[in-house]
Amino acid sequence: MQNTGSNSPEPGSAPVHEQPYIPPTPAVGLPLWLLAELTYRCPLQCPYCSNPLDFAKQGQELSTEQWFKVMAEARQMGAAQIGFSGGEPLVRQDLAELIAEARRLGFYTNLITSGIGLTEQKIIDFKEAGLDHIQISFQASDEQVNNMLAGSKKAFAQKLEMARAVKKHGYPMVLNFVTHRHNIDKIDKIIELCVALEADFVELATCQFYGWAHLNRVGLLPTQDQLVRAERITNEYREKLAVDNHPVKLIFVTPDYYEERPKACMNGWGNLFLTVTPDGTALPCHGARQMPIQFPNVRDHTLQHIWYDSFGFNRFRGYEWMKEPCRSCDEKEKDFGGCRCQAFMLTGDASNADPVCSKSPQHNLITQARDEAEYASQTIEQLAFRNERNSRLIAKS
Ligand code: FES
Repeated sequence: MQNTGSNSPEPGSAPVHEQPYIPPTPAVGLPLWLLAELTYRCPLQCPYCSNPLDFAKQGQELSTEQWFKVMAEARQMGAAQIGFSGGEPLVRQDLAELIAEARRLGFYTNLITSGIGLTEQKIIDFKEAGLDHIQISFQASDEQVNNMLAGSKKAFAQKLEMARAVKKHGYPMVLNFVTHRHNIDKIDKIIELCVALEADFVELATCQFYGWAHLNRVGLLPTQDQLVRAERITNEYREKLAVDNHPVKLIFVTPDYYEERPKACMNGWGNLFLTVTPDGTALPCHGARQMPIQFPNVRDHTLQHIWYDSFGFNRFRGYEWMKEPCRSCDEKEKDFGGCRCQAFMLTGDASNADPVCSKSPQHNLITQARDEAEYASQTIEQLAFRNERNSRLIAKS
């Protein structure tokens, strides 16, 4: 799965197909956004994938019927949007069935894909099944860099063809470019490619450092100058495109390593987002698997129990768990102390403040990473690619 964005997907704007039952539990938010990570299998090997490093040792995938049950329970609890993701969700042979069931239940349905394995016929079949939205991710605007990062010689041509087919069959065209130090200087070419493809929405998202991206951070984090330049160029294009009345929307996402305040990750822990991983483990966010917390599995519990009663989902709700400086901070209701996964990855304790915050006593970890970016010399070939072999090696170590 692409490791991008603000870690707070936008659930609000899409229409829902019918009104769900809303249970009367005012103290806890509803799981409005269900991320269905259908599989960790993937034909590509992006070195910034957000999947866990040890994905190769994870258990058996949920069956079609088990996913039907998850979707029905989530919908009953108020879920309105579903994202089918992975790995690469297209490797699941039952994807059209899952989409049809999600639509029947009234979800707004999103497919988050690399486009590898997609065909025009599948695009038509998914439309008939009720798919609302397809997001295709690119690795770069340049064929060679794209294919090198993806680990496939055919990836770029296939993505272009599928992006055109998505548009032709009446879906909104949503493209996602993960930017990092090896491609961010080509942001003008990326935007021009998106305009040529008649994209409706383009997410220019500097990669966020979870999973494989965290492992490869030194080789991926852009410098401050690279970032400032990319944002300036994006703004210049926005102005130019607005003068031409061009409908494309460019969304530029800064990595939080260059912020002084943390993001309100996931809109708060267990507050809006519910991820179900391929083997049925339920998480408050897709990065949480690495934490030393026993998260519940949908094979053993209902989603109702998981969301409201499980230890894992309650662990960082509210403010009681907070240490200083978050506990007495007047911004805690705005950012919830930042990202729990990032706090855990960087400090070893998920109840610390997210070090992105300049009030954190460990903010130096972020400033050191920025300094490292100034001198980093890693090439694309030196990155650790996300594939079964590397994952098994990591799982063993
Ligand atoms: Fe931010 Fe998990 S990725 S809380």
